[in-house]
Amino acid sequence: MSQNMWTAVDDYFVETLLGDDVVLRATLQANIVAGLPPIDVAPNQGKLLNLLAKSCGARRILEIGTLGGYSTVWLARALPVGGQLVTLELDPVHANVARKNFERAKLTGVVELREGPALESLAQLAKERIEAFDFIFIDADKPNNPGYLEGIMRLSRVGTVIVADNVVREGAVADASSSDPKVQGSRRVLEMMGRDPRLEATALQTVGSKGYDGFAIARVKELN
Ligand SMILES: C[S@@+](CC[C@H](N)C(=O)[O-])C[C@H]1O[C@@H](n2cnc3c(N)ncnc32)[C@H](O)[C@@H]1O
Repeated sequence: MSQNMWTAVDDYFVETLLGDDVVLRATLQANIVAGLPPIDVAPNQGKLLNLLAKSCGARRILEIGTLGGYSTVWLARALPVGGQLVTLELDPVHANVARKNFERAKLTGVVELREGPALESLAQLAKERIEAFDFIFIDADKPNNPGYLEGIMRLSRVGTVIVADNVVREGAVADASSSDPKVQGSRRVLEMMGRDPRLEATALQTVGSKGYDGFAIARVKELN
């Protein structure tokens, strides 16, 4: 098994199940032209997020980590008319590219991009007593994942679905002695999900065009 094979299978899935989409293709192209790192979700992962958000009937979506907005476009397309998505991004260059991508995707008015450190934006959203989100995607700096999980609990309702990306880190997540803060951030967030009585959670390893990694998925089953 190799990266070449994982990529070939992903290509086959994309061709068979997703087809071509001008707007999504233009989004990725704009990200490349702007020099953004190619760390967006893979197309079939974007569609997975879209299907998960639709399946839980999400009307309000929160995303932590926008980059150029590729996953944001997938998620925003899951929303019904009148739905809203808030996405949080630290880097002003990434935020500018994303804003242009949202314009092209005709998502201005649906997507609100809040620029700044996501921990601060989460605290601000809680202060504003913003309506709870139905679906939350965590995909920013991994060492802050525990803080993100704490922050989003105040922005959730019973039934909110939370997806955290890149928790496997090529298997390093199983290494308790790892000194990598990204691995430790992933371990902490998984441990928090496992022991928090308000949550029910699982995690999956994935291989594909973006290598070997995985997602954690949790559902808020009670608050208090
Ligand atoms: C993996 S990328 C997001 C990819 C995007 N979700 C997608 O799939 O298209 C992570 C993003 O999180 C942003 N980021 C890193 N630290 C952050 C922080 N403290 N607050 C908000 N965003 C942050 C990075 O600038 C980067 O754009």
